[in-house]
Amino acid sequence: MTGSPEGDVNTSPARARWHENLDAETRALLADDAEYFLHQALSTPCLDVIERAEGAELIDVAGRRILDFHGNSVHQLGHGHPAVVAAIREEMERLPFSPRRYTNRTAIALARKLADIAPGDLRKVLFAPSGAAAIGIALKLARIATGRHNTLSMWDSFHGANLDTISVGGEALFRRGVGPLMSGTEHVPPLDQAERFFGDDGRAFERLADYIDYVLGLEEVAAVVAEPMRWTTVVPPPPGFWPLVRQSCDRHGTLLIFDEIPSCLGRTGTMFACEQVGCVPDILVIGKGLGGGIMPMAAIVARADLDVAPQSALGHYTHEKSPVGAAAALATLDVIEKDGLVERSRQLGEYGLAQLRTMAADNALLKAVRGLGLYFGVEIGGNDRAEANGRAEAILYAALERGLSFKIGGGNVITLCPPLTIEQEQLDRSFAILAGAIAVLPPA
Ligand SMILES: Cc1ncc(COP(=O)(O)O)c(C=O)c1O
Repeated sequence: MTGSPEGDVNTSPARARWHENLDAETRALLADDAEYFLHQALSTPCLDVIERAEGAELIDVAGRRILDFHGNSVHQLGHGHPAVVAAIREEMERLPFSPRRYTNRTAIALARKLADIAPGDLRKVLFAPSGAAAIGIALKLARIATGRHNTLSMWDSFHGANLDTISVGGEALFRRGVGPLMSGTEHVPPLDQAERFFGDDGRAFERLADYIDYVLGLEEVAAVVAEPMRWTTVVPPPPGFWPLVRQSCDRHGTLLIFDEIPSCLGRTGTMFACEQVGCVPDILVIGKGLGGGIMPMAAIVARADLDVAPQSALGHYTHEKSPVGAAAALATLDVIEKDGLVERSRQLGEYGLAQLRTMAADNALLKAVRGLGLYFGVEIGGNDRAEANGRAEAILYAALERGLSFKIGGGNVITLCPPLTIEQEQLDRSFAILAGAIAVLPPA
């Protein structure tokens, strides 16, 4: 198991059992998939073959309905939201593509919208076709703006699978075996390891912030790159942490880049996660759900005074100002606002967290429950890591058999990422499935 955004579902005995129970057609399709795609971790071989996706559910070729609490974090609006589909169709018929050096009304409208809703003085936008590409743009901009090239980020973090982003990221699975990475990428322990390395007397995050300040004082660092909330293990930082890091960045001439690719657009109960951590970054990177769960769309939103690289090609991507992608994003933002999904995420999130806490109070297998908005982490305990990880994986497959999909972060944290549009009844049903899957294990 890995702390990666996908969780490692490729190799275990539990996976083999799952595969054996699939119907013949699904197995044949999976065999074709395995024949024609390059095999890679966290992807091929695949778990199942899906035929349709609608709302909160995936429907596989055997007709099984699976509540999708994974969705690669793209599904704030669920799958195939009608407003997004209609906006895409309409734009596709009018302006399917906008060649470089031309702009278009839809892309301009989206840039203006993001500048309007982004916190603080974040005003200048570039789009990219993936989160990793957007992080790459942010890194280049930080280098040019500061005249420095080092970065400081967190071990075990994930910022995308490209060479530059795995260098800044700290996840072993992505870094191992690919040869030399980008130089000048320094790392500190991640938020979920703060107590391990900086003490469990309640001052760990203060010390982690102090350590970051110390490193920024030693080296010329272009940017601190981090998620405001640790995504894979659902660890929100204590309130004072990021303001301290913000002050250090200001003192040392370092930019602060927040990666909100999975956590943006209402997921955590505010439009942007950074609204809850007490500081605004210099560059905010968003993605995933920005394309309405259909179009690949990511963006950086930077401070206006960082518009300092007119001579550089910061993000020279073919689909840079995609009118269809921008139409999907505008429709997504419109639905989020009109349907009050940010508020819904907060309220339903509080309800869900209370339900999970009740579940944990009755079951010693559940070591901790965390959450922010409609994103939850249930940490599975064990006598050692292997036992905890094995239990989490057994729960994953037992839940999948019963119709609930989620991913595992950090080896033993069940992460639950439902659409913000989910009905309370569906949420209750999902938690009942989870409880049933946990009940398969012998009690702790
Ligand atoms: C925190 C974080 N940053 C960056 C990325 C990369 O985004 P993409 O897969 O669109 O390149 C991801 C994707 O899982 C992510 O979770």
